[in-house]
Amino acid sequence: MDWKNLRKFAKKDITKSCGIIERDEKTIPEAVAIKYFPMAVDKAEGALVWDADGNRYIDFLTSAAVYNIGHSHPAVVEAVKAQVQKLQNYTTVYFYNDRPVKLAEMLTASMPGDSPKKAAFGFGGSDAVDSAIKAARAFTGRKWILSFKDSYHGMTYGSLSATGIIDGKTKECLCPDARIAFAEYPDPYRNSWGIDGYAEPEKLAAAAMEAVKDAVAGLEGGLAGILIEPAQGDGGMIFPPKAFMQQLVEFAKQSGAVFIDEEVQTGMARSGKMWAIEHFDVVPDLLVSAKALGGGMPISALVGRSDILDSVPVPFFAYTHTGHSVNCAAAAAVLETLQEEDLARQAAEKGARLAAWFRKQAENYPFIGDVRQQGLLMGVDIVSDKEKRTPDKAMALKISWAAWERGLILITFGKHGNVLRVAPPLNIPEDLLDEGLEIMNASLDDAASGRVPEGVLPLLKGW
Ligand SMILES: Cc1ncc(COP(=O)(O)O)c(C=O)c1O
Repeated sequence: MDWKNLRKFAKKDITKSCGIIERDEKTIPEAVAIKYFPMAVDKAEGALVWDADGNRYIDFLTSAAVYNIGHSHPAVVEAVKAQVQKLQNYTTVYFYNDRPVKLAEMLTASMPGDSPKKAAFGFGGSDAVDSAIKAARAFTGRKWILSFKDSYHGMTYGSLSATGIIDGKTKECLCPDARIAFAEYPDPYRNSWGIDGYAEPEKLAAAAMEAVKDAVAGLEGGLAGILIEPAQGDGGMIFPPKAFMQQLVEFAKQSGAVFIDEEVQTGMARSGKMWAIEHFDVVPDLLVSAKALGGGMPISALVGRSDILDSVPVPFFAYTHTGHSVNCAAAAAVLETLQEEDLARQAAEKGARLAAWFRKQAENYPFIGDVRQQGLLMGVDIVSDKEKRTPDKAMALKISWAAWERGLILITFGKHGNVLRVAPPLNIPEDLLDEGLEIMNASLDDAASGRVPEGVLPLLKGW
């Protein structure tokens, strides 16, 4: 990020942030980041974040859908403190420990389906996706994984190989796993078939199933698994037709392939249900969770059928810190908090309110092309031509810059980089939600009225 030039446009004092960025540039490789704003985060609480200069922000990003229960929730802080004081961790590779056992019991109970289940733990979404690929291949004895174009699954070797939003050419220098096939994800708003998937979901589902069958036809080595996000997050928060997911699960069953529900971004009550796959009335074989699971502590889980997970040879799920006691204690506190605060319901209600608000704004701002929402999984698609649905990344970046200037953390994502990512904590208090929407309104107006300097655009990278 060209923060030195970007800084010239910032109206607030960001001196301390810039000092940290200068040191960061000297010591941390660029590949770590897609930085948005010249901002160093100093502290956070609930739905609020402060930067190093003391500027206050309402958080509509929650550290990329991590703080579903808010920053530094007292339940997590207490669980972590108590666990650190008693035992930080002792490797579960060699001995037993009831903290990962308790978490595995909670997670297996939360997953749909009656088959006996187990859970294996890691640290982030990427490694859990790798574990899912391992399990699918070990169980079936087959080689290929079907993933989807514009999907994001992570940056370890396996998960990066299965990530569709980064093109094959860019990945080539890393020699990614070649045995991943890709099919088009059925985007109701914009797809290569020219189908309006909101008006004709069945037709879109049929076209997408054809693409799936074409993608896996004749794969030498056979289809081991199908890896799919129940809503494509970094693709721009795309919700596929229910019929598609149902047919895909059936197709996996008929083909003897493992169906992997990738819920790193969609899970933990954000969709208005504990797991987003529940909206489709299907039962996955495996489920991948991370991000919000640890309430800010790094933990991932691969949950699912015991027969599949037990097919993985010893010790292929072994990491020194697997099932780390502190992270497991934090995750158990998160799961309890989701229940105690009824956060799936809160997500459903607040999400419906936000979507209605954005749809109303679309009457004033023609660049709001599509408002996609399920609970507090939400994307607002910004377009330059509403009829043609032409993505307008520049306008989306202007809105997010204006929001940042005014004290709202709101970034863009999506396969065209033109979608506003709206992901506040599920328990954001009503007054902060109102304040966030006031800032959003002013930011839409700033962008629409040409008050955001054109000069910031070449300096903002975004997705
Ligand atoms: C859907 C999805 N899967 C996997 C990942 C990778 O997770 P992590 O960055 O924790 O490794 C992400 C991260 O953004 C994600 O959104």
